[in-house]
Amino acid sequence: MAPLIRIQLGIFFVLLCPVNIIGLWWAVGSPLVMDPNSICRKTKQLAGKQAELCQSQPEIIKEVIKGAKLGIRECQHQFRSRRWNCTSHSKYFGKVLQQDIRETAFVYAVTAAGVTHAVTQACSMGYLLQCGCEATRSRGPPRPADTGTEAVRWEWGGCGDDVEFGYEKSKQFMDGRQKTGKSDIRTLMDLHNNEAGRLAVRNYMRTECKCHGLSGSCTLRTCWRKMPPFREVGNRLLERFHGASKVMGGNDGKTLIPVGRNIKPPDKQDLIYSAESPDFCLPNRKTGSAGTRGRVCNSTALDMSGCDLLCCDRGYRDETVVYEENCLCRFHWCCVVQCKKCSVRKKLSLCM
Ligand SMILES: *[C@@H]1O[C@H](CO)[C@@H](O)[C@H](O)[C@H]1NC(C)=O
Ligand SMILES: *[C@@H]1O[C@H](CO)[C@@H](O)[C@H](O)[C@H]1NC(C)=O
Repeated sequence: MAPLIRIQLGIFFVLLCPVNIIGLWWAVGSPLVMDPNSICRKTKQLAGKQAELCQSQPEIIKEVIKGAKLGIRECQHQFRSRRWNCTSHSKYFGKVLQQDIRETAFVYAVTAAGVTHAVTQACSMGYLLQCGCEATRSRGPPRPADTGTEAVRWEWGGCGDDVEFGYEKSKQFMDGRQKTGKSDIRTLMDLHNNEAGRLAVRNYMRTECKCHGLSGSCTLRTCWRKMPPFREVGNRLLERFHGASKVMGGNDGKTLIPVGRNIKPPDKQDLIYSAESPDFCLPNRKTGSAGTRGRVCNSTALDMSGCDLLCCDRGYRDETVVYEENCLCRFHWCCVVQCKKCSVRKKLSLCM
């Protein structure tokens, strides 16, 4: 039997948003418990490359879904204390994805990055038949980081992450799309942001090494390439979100040109957008804003998480919440940990 995967609707949105969100919404309902085969069957809207991938490699679809989830979870972490917090509540999420704002750019990028990361990870773990550890035979020897020690030999070994494979699969799945309804310009932007996400993984591979030799003499080092931890990818993409470049469509309808004078054109790793974000202060179905009423804010912080900014100057109220927590835990030989329950009072500030 095919393994079941539970996915939240919001994730499903993202996964298939390059295709046809609305059609899909009707096809599946929420919450979803599906296996890759039925995803492939139900999503007739999948076109071209995506459909091919679906039919020929259902086990990769499973990793694609994992990757999309990873991306959304990271989005929620990075935006946890901002007005738009990447909530995947279906009523709002889809609307954000249909715009050309910075937030949309981030979601596309972090999802494509998540898919790259998850598929590559699955290769290294040996979960997929199509891929495995990185082939290193064709690669030159690793460059020693410290040139002080002369006699150290270097070799590729261990299991390097085959990020090229994950990159290609993410490309095949995330970039393959139908051309219904979307303008060329919007498609170009989505593709650019997808690529920026994938590069936030691929361009930041690191080399890890291990020493071999008698009593730590390190006469031989074996090294392998590893992906950056996904949190780091998220941090990097958030920086790109802050520095995102505004673009507009050229006259030919096929090119993007940066908006503003003396602005350097965005490079491949930059996020791009073409419309200013709404302020996300009040609920608005059109823009996908859930509003910030009831959100927890920080009354002393001066950044976005501060009550003034988060609550849009509407003010806030303090509330004391009491909850139980494990405390005074003691370890008994062997092997039990016993804890007491303590009531913890915590003061929270909530937006009005
Ligand atoms: C995100 O925002 C929504 C809508 O305002 C809210 O219901 C949810 O609790 C928020 N999530 C977090 C983690 O703050
Ligand atoms: C609130 O903001 C202050 C100042 O930035 C910070 O030191 C503190 O840790 C924050 N509190 C919470 C609960 O995040």
